Amino acid sequence: MTDTNPTSDPASGPSLENLLHETRSFPPSEEFAAQANAKAGLYERASAAGEEFWAEQARELVTWQTPFTETLDWSGAPVARWFGDGTLNAAYNAVDRHVEAGHGDRVAIHFEGEPGDTRTVTYADLQQEVSRAANALTTLGVRTGDRVVIYLPMLVESVVAMLACARIGAPHSVVFGGFSADALRSRIADAEATLVVTADGGYRRGAPSALKPAVDEALAPKEGAPETSVQKVLVVRRTEQEVDWVEGRDVWWHEALAAADPVHEPVAVEAEHPLFILYTSGTTGKPKGILHTTGGYLTQTAYTHKYVFDLKPETDVYWCTADVGWVTGHSYVVYGPLVNGATQVLYEGTPDTPHRGRWWELIQKYKVSILYTAPTAIRTCMKWGDDIPGEFDLSSLRVLGSVGEPINPEAWMWYRRVIGGDRAPVVDTWWQTETGAIMISPLPGVTAAKPGSAQVPLPGIAATVVDDEAKPVPDGGGGYLVLSEPWPSMLRGIWGDLERYKDTYWSRFEGLYFAGDGAKKDDDGDIWLLGRVDDVMNVSGHRLSTTEIESALVSNPIVAEAAVVGANDETTGQAVVAFVILRGEHANRASTPEGAAEVQKELRDHVGKEIGPIAKPKKILVVPELPKTRSGKIMRRLLRDVAEDRTVGDATTLADSSVMDLITAGLAVPSAASED
Ligand code: WT7
Repeated sequence: MTDTNPTSDPASGPSLENLLHETRSFPPSEEFAAQANAKAGLYERASAAGEEFWAEQARELVTWQTPFTETLDWSGAPVARWFGDGTLNAAYNAVDRHVEAGHGDRVAIHFEGEPGDTRTVTYADLQQEVSRAANALTTLGVRTGDRVVIYLPMLVESVVAMLACARIGAPHSVVFGGFSADALRSRIADAEATLVVTADGGYRRGAPSALKPAVDEALAPKEGAPETSVQKVLVVRRTEQEVDWVEGRDVWWHEALAAADPVHEPVAVEAEHPLFILYTSGTTGKPKGILHTTGGYLTQTAYTHKYVFDLKPETDVYWCTADVGWVTGHSYVVYGPLVNGATQVLYEGTPDTPHRGRWWELIQKYKVSILYTAPTAIRTCMKWGDDIPGEFDLSSLRVLGSVGEPINPEAWMWYRRVIGGDRAPVVDTWWQTETGAIMISPLPGVTAAKPGSAQVPLPGIAATVVDDEAKPVPDGGGGYLVLSEPWPSMLRGIWGDLERYKDTYWSRFEGLYFAGDGAKKDDDGDIWLLGRVDDVMNVSGHRLSTTEIESALVSNPIVAEAAVVGANDETTGQAVVAFVILRGEHANRASTPEGAAEVQKELRDHVGKEIGPIAKPKKILVVPELPKTRSGKIMRRLLRDVAEDRTVGDATTLADSSVMDLITAGLAVPSAASED
């Protein structure tokens, strides 16, 4: 029962003080530095050139239909316009121009299905398939500006569908396949999508898992829910499961594409044309539709992908393990790598199917040279032991990336030593759905890396740590991470809610973008991310809102009140722990071990249905009361103490200071704290 958490709010993990005195340093090898894309001069150029630096990147990395003459227009702050008078097409940049440059035979995607089926897709293949899909979407009535929801497993078709939308200028909104029908319904409604792309199912842990039923349910009339705007559902056949079919609405993907012309003229759109909307959890119950536009987003994803991963498109084999349902999949599976003409691996399944060496086997098989994954996966593999990766030849790896949550130094060291053979540089990359692209990261070949720290803002990025009064903290100090200059891939708002955009990100500190993360600067001025300071949790690198899960819980008739906290978890970073007060007679149900287990299962399933399996609480504790301040605010800090098995901290501001005794006394009955 040790409290090693000096900042009570952020989920800072083990011993921050030790972290901040990290003495291990891994400077780049001479060989790596000599061949690296990034040289130290990039920082100098960026600070000397100001916004012109981004204009240079935009001209070098992206092909424009109409060249831009304006770089940044910040007069409508906090909504930026980058490269405003330029026009371009994202799919053309990701596909066609590589074919035109003579690289049509280059592999764009090595697809590996979970059952072991494979497919090799060259840039020329991709051009044909994306063109067919764009024509098919057009035939099905999708016009430039219409929104298309994509709800698919990790398939080649997922990438094709996204690019087909981009090709006709129809913003896509990808919804992660692990979200429930209800979550899908609310996203479809908010985006007012007219078409949904889905699949019969996908392979998950060795078995086909259905997907289309969730779409059918999301589109079915529901009392109290608005009528859906969806006209057509395009269905990819993956598992050949039986599916219900709505005549006139449902169309097979393979039939629509076979009937479509393989030639399609990409639609040139303005740089600020919406490219996609991606929903993410905020501090309230309603997910936010983060809006990204075309020119700036492509520029910065390509720029970061080139320099942070040191990509050499002719020789590297790149693999980002993220699902396209998250922003990492958007920026570093689809747009960044393809705009850069990379060859990449796309894997449908989980790391432990059919065995725990599957990832390493894939790295050996495809000679992957750049790997980008999340700390939670690294920690899981670390737990499984060194022997498993030891069985495979990982010598092709030359850059290792980490993203999604703070990476603890132990996991960082293991990643470098066991996976990277003590040779490949590790880059810990900080960014968000909102930032669109990596913002803080070491540059391989330049930065001497420090285990556990994202360290320095990339060239062109102004990130700093400020105190409550918005004053930058000195080295050694802690506070909040802010971004003080606009950047090309920044969000352009929250879909349909400009006020919420201003309020969420720009109201805390005048003129500064508030990221929601706590951070410290060590004595060298390097940045250490400490976790969220708001009601957002980070479970396995996925963002979940405490409020959203609380709303899901109280929507169950047996629950009177609920409070959710993110407790530190060795593997997943944070774990969802819920405290619930049951209604009237139901309270008695939890008084026996069996009854409590039943209630917990019922509520976990309920959250799974309302939001999705990823949001299911790891623990549900039935309590008689919740700790509240006199103004009625739940003191999550105290609940976190309970959830993390610590002595409960200062409870003097509670309206009723005996509540915590009541809660901890109740939990002493082992039945109520069962885990599954
Ligand atoms: C939040 C954003 C960026 C793609 C995946 C998550 C946390 C992200 C790091 C990192 C410490 C990190 C932050 C951030 N986060 N990367 N390298 N070190 N924390 O995107 O779902 O928008 O979540 O993830 O708390 O605010 P997201």
